[in-house]
Amino acid sequence: MTAVGIDAIEVWTGNLKLDLPGTFAPQKGEDPEKYTKGLGLNASSFPDSYEDIVTMGANAAYRLMDRKGLEPKDIGRIDVATESAFDNSKPVSTYVAGCLEGVFDGDFHHANKGERKFACIAGTQSLDDACNWIRAGRNRGRGALVIATDTALYARGDAGEATQGAGAVAMYITENPSLVELSTEQGYGSADETDFLKPNQQFPSVDGKRSVQVYLARMREALEDYESVAGDVHPDDIAFIPFHTPFPGMVRKAGMLGYRHITRDTAIEDDLAAEIGRQPREEAFDDEAAYHDALREYMSALKGTDRYADWYGSTIDPTLTLSREVGNWYTGSVHLARVSALKHGLENELELAGERVLVGSYGSGAQAEIHAETIQDGWREEIAALNIDEQLASRYELTWADYEEIHDAHNHDMDVDIEPRTTPEAEFVFDGWGPMGERKYRFVD
Ligand code: HMG
Repeated sequence: MTAVGIDAIEVWTGNLKLDLPGTFAPQKGEDPEKYTKGLGLNASSFPDSYEDIVTMGANAAYRLMDRKGLEPKDIGRIDVATESAFDNSKPVSTYVAGCLEGVFDGDFHHANKGERKFACIAGTQSLDDACNWIRAGRNRGRGALVIATDTALYARGDAGEATQGAGAVAMYITENPSLVELSTEQGYGSADETDFLKPNQQFPSVDGKRSVQVYLARMREALEDYESVAGDVHPDDIAFIPFHTPFPGMVRKAGMLGYRHITRDTAIEDDLAAEIGRQPREEAFDDEAAYHDALREYMSALKGTDRYADWYGSTIDPTLTLSREVGNWYTGSVHLARVSALKHGLENELELAGERVLVGSYGSGAQAEIHAETIQDGWREEIAALNIDEQLASRYELTWADYEEIHDAHNHDMDVDIEPRTTPEAEFVFDGWGPMGERKYRFVD
């Protein structure tokens, strides 16, 4: 079967930055280490007043097309995944296509466009749809543009406020890709949940503590489902596991659960037994509470072992570096985690071609999905072309007063007009409203 997957990827961060330990924590009267150590976050990205999901998505796509020398005729499909949409009918992909047509020769009149919604997992679902479209032979030699773009804002005072973020990831999906090939095997864990939702409202209703448990439960089901078709996963076979990352502390929990699962009944469990005993088996316990206590005890001991720390340091921690600086990008988060891991590989001169990555996506509501990817020969060149470090470094750092203003400016229920904090350069910007309530955009050189 022909390899299908991600040929190229580009990232666009919101142009503003909020320092969490330095600016946010003191205002909340909290210990800065709750953010740096507990949640695992240093900063969040925010959109400036002229940025939104269209500008960030179009800017990531523009960089990608420009760098790869692509023209609209090379793209047969544009899917945008978002949970920050502002229109119940006209999809964000039409706005993005309009932006791109303004700067590239040709048009997207024969490209299929859509918008995917399932909380944060929609980016991966769009990637999956694009791969299936190619595998079905419907692409006529063209690739698909998949864009995950979100402004992850919470109501002021909500516990989720600490985990905000804004940014976009654009991916070009083709046959014989340069970056990663996707496995056809995948596993799902899906259930009707009300842990996080936005019933026709901008800011989410969240049951934060429960959402953490739902994430872990669905992820575990997805892993079991994946193993039922792909066979058991072994830690030695996986270079990185990029998870959906609402905040790195969440992935710390997912990583621990995952490691316990994939080392069960392996030589690793045997090796660790002398130090911390074997994993508790449910069938050995009369009551559930005692089993859960034993599990907690095992996990706490496991966390203290060198073996686990080494695995976490090489397989999970590299996926979190970018997330620590930008917060939750919802649909883009897991794709940023993949970039983060590969960037770590580049910076540490790792030989990654042919290595496998296990991708754990998640969306509230709720669904987890797991698939594998094989890193391709062109990965180094693709990742070296990114300018994410420059983007992060050039963000404007918000004061607390700036932050309050910018949050209000992006609040759909408030009519607040503010001066931008940054000067756009070679990017699309929001340019006001058209006669039918449509948003208008222009490219600034
Ligand atoms: P909170 O109550 O503010 O924080 O809310 P906390 O008290 O639970 O503390 C967080 C962690 O920091 C804890 O670590 C504390 O112990 C630690 P844990 O025990 O969990 O390992 N901590 C400290 N560590 C060191 N030094 C200190 C210190 N103080 C505390 N001084 C919560 C946290 C996640 C609930 C909140 O941020 C929230 O509601 N977030 C939004 C929901 C969310 O992100 N959920 C994640 C799973 S659902 C998901 O991923 C989907 C999502 O992306 C949406 C979608 O799919 O569309 C959200």
